[in-house]
Amino acid sequence: MEKIQLNNEVALSRIIQGLWRLKSWKMTPEALLEFVHQCIDLGVTSFDTAEIYGNYEAEAMFGEALKLEPELRSKIEIITKTGINMKSDKRPYSIGHYDTTYDKVVASCKKSIDLMHCEYLDVFLIHREDPLINHKEVARALNDLKAMGLIKSFGVSNFDPFKFDALHKATGGQLVTNQIEVSPLCFEHFNNGNMDYLQSVDVPPMIWSPLAGGQIFTGSDERSTNVRRVLEDLSKDYGVETDVLTYAWLLKHPVRMMPICGSGKIDRVKNAVKALDVELKHEDWYKIYVASKDQELR
Ligand SMILES: NC(=O)c1ccc[n+]([C@@H]2O[C@H](COP(=O)([O-])OP(=O)(O)OC[C@H]3O[C@@H](n4cnc5c(N)ncnc54)[C@H](OP(=O)(O)O)[C@@H]3O)[C@@H](O)[C@H]2O)c1
Repeated sequence: MEKIQLNNEVALSRIIQGLWRLKSWKMTPEALLEFVHQCIDLGVTSFDTAEIYGNYEAEAMFGEALKLEPELRSKIEIITKTGINMKSDKRPYSIGHYDTTYDKVVASCKKSIDLMHCEYLDVFLIHREDPLINHKEVARALNDLKAMGLIKSFGVSNFDPFKFDALHKATGGQLVTNQIEVSPLCFEHFNNGNMDYLQSVDVPPMIWSPLAGGQIFTGSDERSTNVRRVLEDLSKDYGVETDVLTYAWLLKHPVRMMPICGSGKIDRVKNAVKALDVELKHEDWYKIYVASKDQELR
């Protein structure tokens, strides 16, 4: 599997496995460990989670699996996120809000490492744009965590180019990724200039909900139906499933997208990996781009 080098210390597998839905998979630690092994066998060595996933429980669940085989730590890369204080029965907040203060970022990182029994994080992300962000303070927190050896790299998620640029400058150009939503049903980051901006600073994005959370295959709305029809037509030409083509559509973009697979079914991870061998024709890329009718070519 191709690796994407983020900085001197961290390279991620081109296809990443996501753990947002982990709780719904209802796996025992042993079953999750087996799933992690199956991913590694496919070359998928990078795993994405966040403090808030699974109502604050996903990191601990992943940690329980890793604890069964501590040697696995050196064979995988762990990405997690901080900065959201989600309203939950597990937390006392009166309103869901963002928190990117120094103390929150540092404490959250230490807690994530503790819960996952993983000693360090490969990539630590600020989960969402915080309207109250103090760029210098966040940069200081991230730099201190790196100096302590607790994180090997850091980045952001869901930032528009302007906000990315502000934090990138405050950190001396150290942000290694922006984790953003892109799919044939989601064009926000084509339209806000992120694809162009990220190429210009040579920062590859991680892509969340690459299959629009499954909506492409199950949605009954007009946009989903249109996309599905185009993918089904093309899948006859290419001889691969429609999800494989969707991943191939993302992988073709020169920004070097790293799609995050959201399923806990290994056959679906296999299909994501299969897409690395599909060379989507130029015109077919555009057929998928305009399929939902959200995007018009002028
Ligand atoms: N940074 C952020 O703000 C953010 C936000 C959301 C997610 N993420 C990350 O991105 C990862 C991926 O997101 P995602 O889970 O939304 O990804 P996704 O791959 O777009 O969606 C996964 C969902 O699609 C379903 N699905 C997949 N293939 C299908 C098919 N062929 N037919 C029908 N349904 C299908 C899966 O069902 P099955 O489980 O049945 O396979 C699952 O429910 C997450 O795990 C998380 O790590 C980040």
